[in-house]
Amino acid sequence: KETKNQMLVIFGASGDLTARKLIPSLFNLYVAKQLPKNFVVLGASRSNLSDGEFRKKVVYESPYLKSKIEDLKENYVKGFADMLFYEDLGDDYTKNYERLSKRIAKLNDTNGTENNYMFYLSTPPSLYEPIAKNLADAGLSSQEEGWKRLIVEKPFGYSLETAKELNKGLQKYFNESQIYRIDHYLGKETVQNLLVTRFSNSIFEPLWNRNYIHHVEITNAESVGVEKRGGYYDKSGALRDMFQNHLLQIVSLVVMEPPIGNEPEDIRNEKVKALKSLRIMKDDESLFENTIRAQYVASEINGEKIKGYREEDGVDPNSTTETYAAVKFFVDNWRWKDVPFYVRTAKRMPTKVTEVIIHFKTPHHQIFKDSGLSSKDNKLIIRIQPDEGILIKFGVKVPGQGFKVERANLDFYYSSLAETYVMEAYERLLLDAMQGDATLYARADEVEAAWEFVDPILDYWKNGKDIRMYGYAAGVWGPENADELIDDLGFWRNPGQ
Ligand code: BG6
Repeated sequence: KETKNQMLVIFGASGDLTARKLIPSLFNLYVAKQLPKNFVVLGASRSNLSDGEFRKKVVYESPYLKSKIEDLKENYVKGFADMLFYEDLGDDYTKNYERLSKRIAKLNDTNGTENNYMFYLSTPPSLYEPIAKNLADAGLSSQEEGWKRLIVEKPFGYSLETAKELNKGLQKYFNESQIYRIDHYLGKETVQNLLVTRFSNSIFEPLWNRNYIHHVEITNAESVGVEKRGGYYDKSGALRDMFQNHLLQIVSLVVMEPPIGNEPEDIRNEKVKALKSLRIMKDDESLFENTIRAQYVASEINGEKIKGYREEDGVDPNSTTETYAAVKFFVDNWRWKDVPFYVRTAKRMPTKVTEVIIHFKTPHHQIFKDSGLSSKDNKLIIRIQPDEGILIKFGVKVPGQGFKVERANLDFYYSSLAETYVMEAYERLLLDAMQGDATLYARADEVEAAWEFVDPILDYWKNGKDIRMYGYAAGVWGPENADELIDDLGFWRNPGQ
């Protein structure tokens, strides 16, 4: 695909995301010769920086680029740094657009970026709409000359209602086809590989339904706590921070029907359909039975004291925000009727891991049922991270007399493709947006369908009767009560076990 000459304008350019993800991703694209011939980055923010100071901050003195630029020639690094510019927007993001648009026009003229502008909003969400409005008022959303695109970071709303407001607000100034909602999980190779595993092989898809699948489990665990983001996290919680977006994106790829082709809308249409078929839990009883929330409590790991969630900086000491969320649900459609899905996400787990586990049913007629292998032992594990790969667990005969069965593994790891360069999520997503490919970006209706499912849970967790907040020590797999969710199965698959 062609990457046209263009300018990337980053709002919130003095923030963490720009230094930690965006600039390093652009630098990787520079090294990989993927940037267009004429390319300019204009950082815009509230800090008072000159172009030189901005370059220093995000390139020359950036801890995130240090190891990448160390051994490179000065001139080569300068070639990249010289593409970066900065514009001080003053004390908020609502003024100074005249100056900004003049700067954009000037940079455009001198650098040949052909009026193609991509605006990346890496600011608090409350500024998304005002920025979009100001851009439109300054004539910067019009596609009469060159294209204009808007990338927005999560969170896309705080609830269904606010997500709808946000979508409407943005769509007043930009067309839906100009809006790119970034979900960095969609930039992960292994998440994309879910599509390939399912739809380019004939050995999985025939089994991918209620006739053969017993249940689906998705685990997303992080060993870190809320780090320095207590203030943000306390208003969010695991369900909003991870489940509504990243995990439901994974769910949609597992659940969706085969798309008619690989055009962005072919795939996104099917994902929306998938999300719309999740059974929304409406009554307190099902919400009580099918959801679990918990917080990590003060604990010790190998002699190291770990703060409880409520003691973290920025967190309310009486907080009822969850750091662990587990949800059991069903998908009401032909393919998935009665197949339970178990999805959990949490901070302060024993390890960092994300995986999808397809548990197959036991054979209808078991000849070797006394063989020693437990039922439901056929599994397909899609390891999203780390040790990215695909693992198949199945039974083989133990050599010797009789029919003793043991579990064997057929494993594929991405690391075995030694020669392959795996792009980082942001790198891939930025390049896609630069090329106008929205396949891996969330569409408005997709985001709203996800909120529709999550809203009643949030509401119940806030106001419901009988709802409990469990505690768990750092470094364990969440509260024991979470096993009650997996009722007839007894336990979750904890990676490594
Ligand atoms: C972010 C969340 O979207 O994803 C963070 O806000 C979380 O709380 C992060 O730590 C996890 O991303 P990854 O790619 O490390 O799994």
